[in-house]
Amino acid sequence: MTLSFILNGEPVTVNVEPNRRLIDILRNDFELTGCKSGCLGGLCGACAVIFNGIVSPACLIPAFRIRDSTIITIEGFARSNHYKDIERGFSLHDVESCGYCGASKFLITEILLVEKKTPSREEILKAFDSVKCRCTLGENLIDAVMAASEIRQRRLREQNA
Ligand code: FES
Ligand code: FES
Repeated sequence: MTLSFILNGEPVTVNVEPNRRLIDILRNDFELTGCKSGCLGGLCGACAVIFNGIVSPACLIPAFRIRDSTIITIEGFARSNHYKDIERGFSLHDVESCGYCGASKFLITEILLVEKKTPSREEILKAFDSVKCRCTLGENLIDAVMAASEIRQRRLREQNA
């Protein structure tokens, strides 16, 4: 099956077997290995991507759903100023982002901050429900997301001044 979609801002086309999943297509056909293979059952958060504006586990997305979709992986997101806001917030509060689910934490934070400019502590905790992270969750991560929110708003204010 031939699929066309938008990947990290670029139109792409790929020929794949119908039984393949987005995680395999990203890793093997596009060499986007920031999408990690973990539980392969939608439980760990290691394979998160932004799929049509929602953070989603790529291991649960079958090939046919990719057609005409818009997908952002950590590789694409890392080129943005939005990524840098989050990176600074994480660094201020010592959030570890190892190769396992670090990318998911960035993408979840991004979508949360797009939906809520200044999320509450409870909203931040809830947003990370789907991530089983061994590095940093809890208070440090909450403080880091709040810091990222402030950094972003300051940057946008300065840009618009
Ligand atoms: S590998 Fe996809 S959620 Fe765990
Ligand atoms: S960032 Fe290391 S396990 Fe989540």
